[in-house]
Amino acid sequence: MHKIFANTLFVGKQIISLPSCHSTNDLMAQMSAKKQLYEGAIIITKHQTKGKGQRGSQWSSPEGKNLTFSVYLKPYFLKPPQQFELNRMTSLALLDVVKSLSADFKVYVKWPNDLIVNKKKVAGILIENSINQNGISESIIGIGFNVNQTEEILPTATSLAKQFEQEFDLDKILLKIVQRLEHYYLILRGGDFRFIHELYESKLYLKDKVAYYEDAIGKFNGIIRKVHPDGVLEIEDESGIHRKYRFKEVSLLSY
Ligand code: BTN
Repeated sequence: MHKIFANTLFVGKQIISLPSCHSTNDLMAQMSAKKQLYEGAIIITKHQTKGKGQRGSQWSSPEGKNLTFSVYLKPYFLKPPQQFELNRMTSLALLDVVKSLSADFKVYVKWPNDLIVNKKKVAGILIENSINQNGISESIIGIGFNVNQTEEILPTATSLAKQFEQEFDLDKILLKIVQRLEHYYLILRGGDFRFIHELYESKLYLKDKVAYYEDAIGKFNGIIRKVHPDGVLEIEDESGIHRKYRFKEVSLLSY
């Protein structure tokens, strides 16, 4: 079971480790409703029977091979239009972890928050926020990180083991993530959004490069120009028009 001794203030101090559960995000929501969680709590499992991905998809992961966990935060200092800060900081935390294993690796964040190593997805993030009149009262940050999986992996996905040709200790990777998450969270809590924005933008996949996209109107060549503070993606098309997208409104086809 997962036992880490995190050198942190609060993230990773409460760890609920289960052999199996439906979805760590869903279980976290249930436990939060029963007031069973402290800020920074982690629910981690070796096996999810109903893991959730973005856009209503399923997240499946072979038992015990990868990291599938959720982190509980109470970012009361963020207003609803600032929700995207959580996506930024989580992807930056994961990126730092891969970078810490090898500085030579080309690691990027594909908008909104997929972690890309050598053109393939190594980790996905599903953030579910609760909002009240004061702001974001709680955030469930679900992370699926492909660590030791080497078989039955989608052609568009990869794992650390595949990239580095070695196995990793899951707890050591978890510990690194927890520390980087708290690091960026404290920066946000301190109000330095600009630092996070600039760092995220500098790691943005295909920024200023021509790629082929599809939106509700059709397929087009475009260039990612920026991500707005609220997370809106801006792509310049061939006619020089700057198109703006929220989550799920555009997808990358090829580049
Ligand atoms: C994506 O589609 O890229 C997001 C995947 C997020 C998967 C993680 S695994 C732990 C947590 N619990 C879930 O049910 N989903 C997230």
